[in-house]
Amino acid sequence: MAQERRFRLESRIAHAGVGQDPLYGSIAVPVYQAVTYQHPGAALGPFDYSRTANPTRRSAEEALGALEGGAGASLFSSGMAAITALFHLLASGDHIILTQDLYGGTYRVLHDVFAPLGLLADFVDTTDPEAVRRALRPTTRLVFVETPSNPLLRVSPLAQLAGLAHEAGALLAVDNTFMTFARQRPLEHGADVVIYSATKYLAGHNDVLAGLLVAGTAELHERVAAIANATGGVLAPWDSFLLLRGLKTLALRLDRAEHNAGRVAESLLGHPAVSQVFYPQEPMLSAAAFVLHASQARGPGAMVAFSLRDPDAVARLMDGLQLIVPAVSLGGVESLITHPYSETHREFPEERRRELGFVPGLMRLSVGIEDADDLCEDLKEALDRL
Ligand SMILES: Cc1ncc(COP(=O)(O)O)c(C=O)c1O
Repeated sequence: MAQERRFRLESRIAHAGVGQDPLYGSIAVPVYQAVTYQHPGAALGPFDYSRTANPTRRSAEEALGALEGGAGASLFSSGMAAITALFHLLASGDHIILTQDLYGGTYRVLHDVFAPLGLLADFVDTTDPEAVRRALRPTTRLVFVETPSNPLLRVSPLAQLAGLAHEAGALLAVDNTFMTFARQRPLEHGADVVIYSATKYLAGHNDVLAGLLVAGTAELHERVAAIANATGGVLAPWDSFLLLRGLKTLALRLDRAEHNAGRVAESLLGHPAVSQVFYPQEPMLSAAAFVLHASQARGPGAMVAFSLRDPDAVARLMDGLQLIVPAVSLGGVESLITHPYSETHREFPEERRRELGFVPGLMRLSVGIEDADDLCEDLKEALDRL
């Protein structure tokens, strides 16, 4: 008998969920819009109650877990619900080290929800392993990293951080929202957990809010699944369907968005209204950071940040754009522009924002799949008018 072939990632992404309908063989995963399931006898069947498990959600979890190369995956009703479940693995008195320039909501949930419950958090420069080593305490249980970070796209060394975390008896979790498993595979660099706002590239169409947590071991997956069941912030069947449907074009979308982002970043570099461009590619990244990124990721992704010379020009820039839409969020097919200082990162105290470089003139672009010339022209025309 011929040996079963293992297909490449792009093929496996396109086939996510295929073969999951035992009844009719439908290619699209059916939406099991059902909460409770008839017991086949005195014992329970494979499904019992949809908070615990739902067939549509299960199909999406199995597909995503396999694509990430993890031992198990859990889907949540948002990225923040997934991050919350991760923090629920910890107990009062435990200490977490996090990337200092990370998504503002992660900062907010720690500050507003978990700090009062006794979790201690230090936000450090995780691009510098020595800074992480200095921040470690006997009670450190988790190192939580975004690389490239949000919004400044700074690169942290995954394998080195995994080594440091493990030496200290802590887990390494990576928020891989910006890169996805199609570009960066943290478990292969020693991470224990990969976490996502699946709202972004994985779903890809700005129409579903979802979170994903992939665990590297079956034991960790079981603990997370128990937390998901106990706390209940799980993904609904229809949203699981939408996520799977969007996921199938991930590789295509990313290729196109990344191509566009490279063009946009280059076009911004030379513009007199722009003082700095952030993109994980030379010359926007230092040679050393670029080598590091290239050693752990397969491409620069499609997020670009840039600073306006005149910080008072933000509103005029937004108003001047005709194609790129001023809106929060990222990773969808439409290009969006965000002002981190007043939007995604406003949760950070003012002084801290300035310290970290989230200055009033900083803009963040999520580059979509439109025509690259249209995007560059839209930006140029709006910048020329400032
Ligand atoms: C990097 C990152 N992680 C987590 C989140 C939170 O995800 P959600 O909005 O799906 O709750 C976001 C949201 O913007 C994000 O950008």
